[in-house]
Amino acid sequence: MTQTRARDARSEATGGAVGKPVDRLDGTAKTTGAARYSAEYPYPNLAYAALVYATISRGRITQLDTSAAQAHPGVLTVITHQNAPAMKPPPKPSTMDLSTRASPINVNYLNTDEVHWNGQPVAVVVADTLEAARHAADLVRVTYEQMPALVDFDAAKDTAVPQKGNAFLPASGRKGDAQAALLAAPMSVDMTFSTPTHHHNAIEPHATTAAWDGDRLTVHDATQNIDWTRTHLALRFGIPAPDVRVISLFVGGAFGGKAAVWPNTVLTVLAARVTGRPVRMMLTREGVYRIVGGRSATAQRVALGATTDGSLTSLIHTSVARIGRIGGMPDQVTYQSRHLYAAQNMLLQQNLVELDLIPNTFMRAPGEAVGTFAVESAVDELAHRLAIDPIELRMRNEPDTDPLDGKAFSHRRLRQAYEVGAQRFGWGRRNPEPGSMRDGKWLVGMGVATAYHPANQLSASVTVRLSADGTVLVRCGLHEMGMGAATVQAQIAADALGVPLDAVRVDYGDSTLPVAPQAAASTQTATIAASLLAACDKLKAAVLSLAHHSPDSSLRRHRLADLQARDGGLYRTDQPAIGETYAQILTRAGRADIEAGFGSDTRFGAMAGQMRFFARYIRDSRRWVRAASGAQFCEVRVDPDTGEVRVSRWLGVFDIGTVINPKTASSQLRGAIVMGIGMALAEETLIDPNTGRIMNANLADYHVPAHADIPAIDIHCLGDPDPTTPLGVLGAGEVGITGAAAAIANAIHHATGKRVTDLPITLDKLL
Ligand code: MOS
Repeated sequence: MTQTRARDARSEATGGAVGKPVDRLDGTAKTTGAARYSAEYPYPNLAYAALVYATISRGRITQLDTSAAQAHPGVLTVITHQNAPAMKPPPKPSTMDLSTRASPINVNYLNTDEVHWNGQPVAVVVADTLEAARHAADLVRVTYEQMPALVDFDAAKDTAVPQKGNAFLPASGRKGDAQAALLAAPMSVDMTFSTPTHHHNAIEPHATTAAWDGDRLTVHDATQNIDWTRTHLALRFGIPAPDVRVISLFVGGAFGGKAAVWPNTVLTVLAARVTGRPVRMMLTREGVYRIVGGRSATAQRVALGATTDGSLTSLIHTSVARIGRIGGMPDQVTYQSRHLYAAQNMLLQQNLVELDLIPNTFMRAPGEAVGTFAVESAVDELAHRLAIDPIELRMRNEPDTDPLDGKAFSHRRLRQAYEVGAQRFGWGRRNPEPGSMRDGKWLVGMGVATAYHPANQLSASVTVRLSADGTVLVRCGLHEMGMGAATVQAQIAADALGVPLDAVRVDYGDSTLPVAPQAAASTQTATIAASLLAACDKLKAAVLSLAHHSPDSSLRRHRLADLQARDGGLYRTDQPAIGETYAQILTRAGRADIEAGFGSDTRFGAMAGQMRFFARYIRDSRRWVRAASGAQFCEVRVDPDTGEVRVSRWLGVFDIGTVINPKTASSQLRGAIVMGIGMALAEETLIDPNTGRIMNANLADYHVPAHADIPAIDIHCLGDPDPTTPLGVLGAGEVGITGAAAAIANAIHHATGKRVTDLPITLDKLL
């Protein structure tokens, strides 16, 4: 990462860890193999489970022959709808899914003979060994009665109906008469875009190890939502939530694919119940495609009308996405378009079709990742037709307040992002004429696009314990999925308490810890930080009150407001010689340790389930429009003979507020850009339009970028704190993928004069 420093006064006052490119605290454990993932916990007498997947999209099971599987050596049982113990009805449709209906959660797998998607689990084989389980799964014979199924997005998209808003996000927006303004505009573009289904492809396939002890359950699960997994399992198996322990210390990537509870988790727990043994199920790569939803395909229209000097008079963005007929997550495809440009008239509408496919789910920047591809490609095309530089066109339409409802931005630094980026990237060297820049045989193109992702904060519970030996223990059921989540909280705690980073330990990834919401929507760092800072403040007050009760303490008559936490203690800000270490205070008071905690907002205690985490979000979003944003700069080389595209340079300039850790933050952003490059040039889940079967359920046929496909990615963060979040942090998990595909498409247009509006941009589309 290039120069990125948090400029937060608080961090500099304590002289500490925030803003430093600290190595991840779990780095050694992961690189030495000491880190245990969910499929790696040893249990005595462990059994292994494998799934049998339906091969039709819709219908009924008429015959199920498990005799060969049962007879296979080592097989303990084959569980099907004919012999599975009843589970409790699934929970009601849940707002944590942002869905119009209950998502995969409500699928009645193994309690019914109904089949709702090609790939749905129809049997679980449990055996003494993994090999026996997987082999016996192949021996199960299933016969179906098929019913007509609708699986082809392209064929169904014209039947889409307007999406209803979900719990939090509007699905439409309107200002003035955008269609009339479009027709009246002296210059306009009216374009359609399409994007295919995508899958997350985390390195670690979904995996669960489940063990019952009487009616108490311990589950090691690869999840980004410990609390919901616990609640869900408790409801399904009819036991109190406190009797379920979910442990998820290390997760090998998730990207939204591990936010909901998918069948593998529930069926592993069921298999353990039936066999009376601990059971492990690790999905194969194919299995992840079969029973975990991906990102919806989309069809989009973006129409822009402008004056000849480039002021937008009309912005229209409409979309079609799909959910499953049994549930799913309506992607907020047009959401970013509400906030990007000061258009006089606007029309936004999301539409949905329901298909007989597995419910789709959250995938990194759900909606914005593909929505920015369309809107930012259209802006580039408009700039081209107006002969205005694409950055200049964006700057002419940069709004001062939210374009749709006039709400204040809490923070917006897109002008700076483009200024800094143009300078660093050498945008001035770009000849605007498409096809005009060459390097030998290669056509060279430079493209830009805006990145935008909402930055929200939920509520979490955190405790902090200070020991007389000077060490600090932070406890919070947060999720570490590879992004350095615990490391940044250790940095924040170290500074808040004025102790060295290596004195801080963070316990996470366990439902016995104070509860945190799911790690999703790029909310985790700000969410945990808010409660952590509040808990540290309470802790310092409690320590000072110990000092106040001691006649010998030099802090006896001092107020917390006049003190600074540093050097392992509390000291007068104006008289640095006056103060004491925590160890002195605790030892004198005869205390081994002292603890304070801060919980999720209890004023909203009546809210059920996951809703209780959202109180702050609802409050904040009434007051401000808050987002992380950025400018993506991309250079491509295109072979004019073969259509081969190489991404040769990349710069992302981001406004993610204060950067707690430049190393982990840039790694997050870089990873998201790599995913965006994959989306632009390679990734596509192929669904057989006749059978609804995913045809490329493996990493040989589903193409993701390899190292050789990725150039050095330069990340620059502006580092300017947001005034409305703890420490000024805006989420960094998802903004990096937004705008990335458009920057590539725009660079390809610049290189070749070809405007590709259909992802992925494979070579055939450039010949
Ligand atoms: Mo994310 S797609 O909110 O994990």
